[in-house]
Amino acid sequence: MRTIGVVAAAAAGAHTLREGLVQPLVEQGQRVTVTLTPTARTWFDHLGETAALEDLTGWPVRSAPRVWGAPRPHPDPDLLVAAPLTANTCAKLALGLGDNQALTVLCEGITVLPTVVFPRVNAAHTRHPAWEEHLRRLRAAGAHLVQGDDVWPLDEPRLNGTERPLPWSHIIETVQRLLPAV
Ligand SMILES: Cc1cc2nc3c(=O)[nH]c(=O)nc-3n(C[C@H](O)[C@H](O)[C@H](O)COP(=O)(O)O)c2cc1C
Repeated sequence: MRTIGVVAAAAAGAHTLREGLVQPLVEQGQRVTVTLTPTARTWFDHLGETAALEDLTGWPVRSAPRVWGAPRPHPDPDLLVAAPLTANTCAKLALGLGDNQALTVLCEGITVLPTVVFPRVNAAHTRHPAWEEHLRRLRAAGAHLVQGDDVWPLDEPRLNGTERPLPWSHIIETVQRLLPAV
């Protein structure tokens, strides 16, 4: 059994994390831990998804740093899946900013663990002049980016609302491809 550290930010479709990603990984026999950005945590709490994820995984959902001296609440991951990530969290990760628990996990892990990153962004996000450099840095750090027209064609903001399904099957396939190496 491998430990997969799932990290999610407050992007549209994040509420499908349990059914789309965590449940299939648990059913494949993996140990799964979940860490959320603070904003994602408010969404998940509001929807009752935090408790549902804890029931499913058997681990607390993390979103805040532990207090000094407290034990680490999650086992060390063998592989990280950062999905969905917002444009905001992608940018901070590319810059190495760890100003919340989700980014702390990702900034520490991205260069040493297989890391799958799905930027759940729109066309406007990618027109920001810093965006391509962010992607270049994430790739240079070793991240496996789930992106491109075949996986996540870019919409203009609000064109397809917030209901567009996330590419969970592609993300899971990428995890399965990387797992033998861990
Ligand atoms: C309903 C809703 C949907 C959103 N969807 C996205 C999204 O798909 N991608 C994105 O980059 N930001 C999206 N945002 C904006 C982020 O939630 C916002 O930038 C937030 O500060 C991100 O925080 P985080 O990166 O720490 O999770 C959305 C906001 C709302 C209210």
